[in-house]
Amino acid sequence: MRWPWLGAVLLAVGCGPVPAAEYGEELFSDPKLSGSQYNTFSCATCHATTATPPKDEVYAGLSLYNVASRPHWWGGYETRLLDAVNFCYTAFMRGVTPLAPDDPRSRALYEYLVRISPDETAPAQPFTLIKDITDVPRGNARRGADVYEAACRECHGEAHTGKGRLTQLAPVLPEVSQEYGSLFPGVAPGLIFIEKVRHGRFFGVGGNMPPYSRESLSDEDLGALLTHLGL
Ligand code: HEC
Ligand code: HEC
Repeated sequence: MRWPWLGAVLLAVGCGPVPAAEYGEELFSDPKLSGSQYNTFSCATCHATTATPPKDEVYAGLSLYNVASRPHWWGGYETRLLDAVNFCYTAFMRGVTPLAPDDPRSRALYEYLVRISPDETAPAQPFTLIKDITDVPRGNARRGADVYEAACRECHGEAHTGKGRLTQLAPVLPEVSQEYGSLFPGVAPGLIFIEKVRHGRFFGVGGNMPPYSRESLSDEDLGALLTHLGL
């Protein structure tokens, strides 16, 4: 009776299919989920998954803890969870075709999002995209340095050099703003900078940078960041 024994050993060392939620967790932090060779972002680049997001990180997206228990997403614009995910997938991760409902990767991501949603119901999260840009009061430079570390550094690398940046597509900050005088004559560079941070790729401009809503970055922290960057 060799085979039953062998089978039991194989099961014990886990040669069965990987459970969907675990596969989903891998996909969550894998930039290759997007087929694009230019994409370097994973879901984990922009979303925490814990009830209280880590103090030393500012993410563009909200924490996805309890996300599957929310009634709708993107401030009510999306009423199906997969559509909410696909928005990020196509807008930020350069995914060309949205993930289909019957794609095993959608299924696995879903199972993972359910796993990090322990409560049966959870309130929808506010999402306030600031459309009309106004200047913000400048703030504390030291606070601004912390905001840069927590919010911008992962993608843009070190200020002034870009060292360690996640993608060459993310320009060196704040030096990129030196071109603003000729590109947008008469507009204060600080204002264009604020526009970029608040809108990301929205309102007809930009590549793949995410927008920072009022909920993810306060005007106070943005003002501090501008002081730190000398804008
Ligand atoms: C480059 C940044 C970025 C990436 C990458 C990204 N997202 Fe997002 N995501 C955002 C932003 C910004 C929002 C809008 C603010 C918010 O609601 O979190 C958002 C919103 C969402 C929402 C709606 C949350 C709610 O309650 O309204 C879901 C769900 C979501 N993302 C899932 C994902 C998943 C899953 C991935 C990976 C496949 C992903 N995102 C990749 C930035 C990103
Ligand atoms: C998820 C990665 C990511 C994060 C986080 C991020 N950026 Fe960006 N940013 C990019 C990419 C990619 C570009 C270039 C494409 C584009 O314009 O969307 C960019 C472009 C910009 C530009 C426009 C440069 C130009 O061409 O004029 C500014 C300004 C900027 N980012 C500022 C910031 C600041 C400030 C933060 C932190 C609050 C930040 N970014 C966080 C990825 C990111």
